[in-house]
Amino acid sequence: MINSGGWHVNILTLFPDMFPGYLAQSLSGKALEKGLWSYDVVNIRDFAKDVHKSVDDTPYGGGAGMLMRPDIIEEATLSIGGNKQEDKKGCRRIYLSPRGKPLTQAMVQKLAKEPDITLLCGRYEGVDQRVLDSLGYEEISIGDYVLSGGEPAAMILMDACIRLLPGVLGNDETICEESFSNGLLEYPQYTRPAKWLNKSGDCLEVPTVLLSGNHENIRNWRLEQSQELTKRRRPDLWKKYCKRQESAENSKK
Ligand code: ADE
Repeated sequence: MINSGGWHVNILTLFPDMFPGYLAQSLSGKALEKGLWSYDVVNIRDFAKDVHKSVDDTPYGGGAGMLMRPDIIEEATLSIGGNKQEDKKGCRRIYLSPRGKPLTQAMVQKLAKEPDITLLCGRYEGVDQRVLDSLGYEEISIGDYVLSGGEPAAMILMDACIRLLPGVLGNDETICEESFSNGLLEYPQYTRPAKWLNKSGDCLEVPTVLLSGNHENIRNWRLEQSQELTKRRRPDLWKKYCKRQESAENSKK
């Protein structure tokens, strides 16, 4: 396994071969090679106690599917170096689950600053609640839909953190201006050619303000575009943005 400093992730999974998956490519792959982040995978099945290597059992009270057993998840978690029972406040433990708190850019920013996090990827119908509570697992969801397992969710959380690590993107402005960083969706962007004749015969031009070289006008246009887009597509974010603007105005008075 790779463990050479930088941001570190412990991944508990029944499918260790899924990692690093697409994170070995492109930006995150280069950052992994450079040692800006590293990971260890723990195969939960290694902690099974019977000859069949079973890690799950039926839920008390009845119901569909199987649950991951608490004793096995506990041993797998505590096998991680420096991850003792009493460390639960030190190293954040996260269980990826559709029932979790929705992942936001603000949460990603905090997680990217932690030196070491543990991600538990569930399969089946979930995990016995006692082990989540006793080991202090926080539950995080990547959206209101159900995946067949937590592994892709863990990769998405990691991807979002890795691109914020110092030295990964190389352009801090990009991070400041992108969607969610200021509470708004990002404005539309354009590149060459300035006049583009598409296959339907339409001549599509870049908004003239972007060709003007007037940086203040460009900034204002982009802010308006961001505001319009957010208002239309994400009324939830727009409401929060307006509230924040209002309290910033009030604190100036
Ligand atoms: N596991 C299954 N579905 C998930 C989701 N939406 N978010 C995080 N983990 C999951």
